[in-house]
Amino acid sequence: MKQTDYVPLLKMLSEAYARHAPRSAALQQRAESALVDGGSHAVRLMQPFPPRIKRSQGAWIEDEDGNRLLDFWQGHFANILGHNPALVTQALAQAFNNGWGLQSGFVDRLQVELAELLCAQTGHERIRFTTSGSLATMYATMLSRAATARSLVLKMGGGWHGSQPWGLKGVHWDNGFDQLESLGLPPSSDTDVITTTFNDLDQLQQHFREQGDQIACLIIEPVIGGGGMIPATPEFLQTARQLSEHHGAVLICDEVITGFRYRAGDVAQLYGVKPDLTTLGKIIGGGMPLAAVAGRADILDQVGRVGGHSVAFSGGTYCAHPASLLAAKTLVTHLIARETEIYSQLGETGVAIRAIVTEAFSGEGIEVRFSGDQIQDLPAGSLHGLVIPQKQGLALNSPVEVSDPSLCHTLLADRILQLAFLLEDIHVMHGIGSNTTAHGESEVQYLGEACQRVARQLEPYIS
Ligand SMILES: Cc1ncc(COP(=O)(O)O)c(C=O)c1O
Repeated sequence: MKQTDYVPLLKMLSEAYARHAPRSAALQQRAESALVDGGSHAVRLMQPFPPRIKRSQGAWIEDEDGNRLLDFWQGHFANILGHNPALVTQALAQAFNNGWGLQSGFVDRLQVELAELLCAQTGHERIRFTTSGSLATMYATMLSRAATARSLVLKMGGGWHGSQPWGLKGVHWDNGFDQLESLGLPPSSDTDVITTTFNDLDQLQQHFREQGDQIACLIIEPVIGGGGMIPATPEFLQTARQLSEHHGAVLICDEVITGFRYRAGDVAQLYGVKPDLTTLGKIIGGGMPLAAVAGRADILDQVGRVGGHSVAFSGGTYCAHPASLLAAKTLVTHLIARETEIYSQLGETGVAIRAIVTEAFSGEGIEVRFSGDQIQDLPAGSLHGLVIPQKQGLALNSPVEVSDPSLCHTLLADRILQLAFLLEDIHVMHGIGSNTTAHGESEVQYLGEACQRVARQLEPYIS
């Protein structure tokens, strides 16, 4: 008879972790008196407390207790070369020493050079920078609504596009993906945003059949990140393109995670899909805050003189910050120059991670899978959503299956797994997370060995 009450397991792991990282525990107590929940981003504030980080290099981070942790979170998946790559830190150090880097409030050569690179790599005509992925998706939505004079935003259930009024619906599973995520939003956030199921062609077609003339934009991640790291099937993304074009809606590919993750550019190109707008963030910033909306000139020009400044995609004291532009240009140039080598290495390590994790768990009699594992059309990826299914034969190709606790052991595969891994000095997020070029054979081996011990702890709970 399998155990179903996780409370004692959570308690045991939490207590062990408090002993393992007493300084982080003490800092959490202090943090909670000044900071809400002890920090400034919910995902980072795991319970009972997160490790407080002192330094990091490559695949590894070190906490205040001196624990060296192997990290698969890697800056919200923003790192592609690992933490603090010398390539970027040296460029920044040199610039700062030469009186360059914090002079925001001007335009410079770097902004032009980076814009040219990103337009060339995505095939887009125009680009404008901002500071975060949330702002990029918000501006992309404003641009779409203005360009079409329509209001509806069609998004995927489970899709996270950041914290902005058109993104805060249907992100977390609540017996479906149809709920507002926050109080305090304008009422139209509910009525203007409709959700559909990722990789479900019939549902997508039905939305366009019924409301196609009111849909301003369809926003989609080609590989849905927060929703489980699941690639779209080529048929789904290509149909999304055809339907949006046919009905006069703007197709926004949110590539804040996927941009420069599979190739030196947007992943939509690998699907043969050209969106009207692409949002970029994370990797392109080279570890610094930078995001962008790239796309069709006629849509982006609404922002500027040609379009009578009709869309207020403007402002932002720190937008296109020079230090961010420098980190970004340094990294993006490197990714373009060494594209074949970097992306094949990332993919090979990704394959090795999936194999060693699956094998370690199955050695303890547990079937684990990686979401989207039946969609083989993309090159091997470096994003890994570990799932512990409760049933055989699940397709695992949409956030619905991955998030529904009646289909998968969602709590075990997320919070409990994360805590068990922390005791092994491994930091994971959403299952496992992502690998970078700094994750080599020894890191894969380290993960595999830890998985065996973690699996032994979870086994009594998995039927
Ligand atoms: C696909 C996607 N879009 C947008 C965002 C928001 O980006 P930011 O956290 O930089 O605001 C995220 C963040 O995780 C994301 O994953």
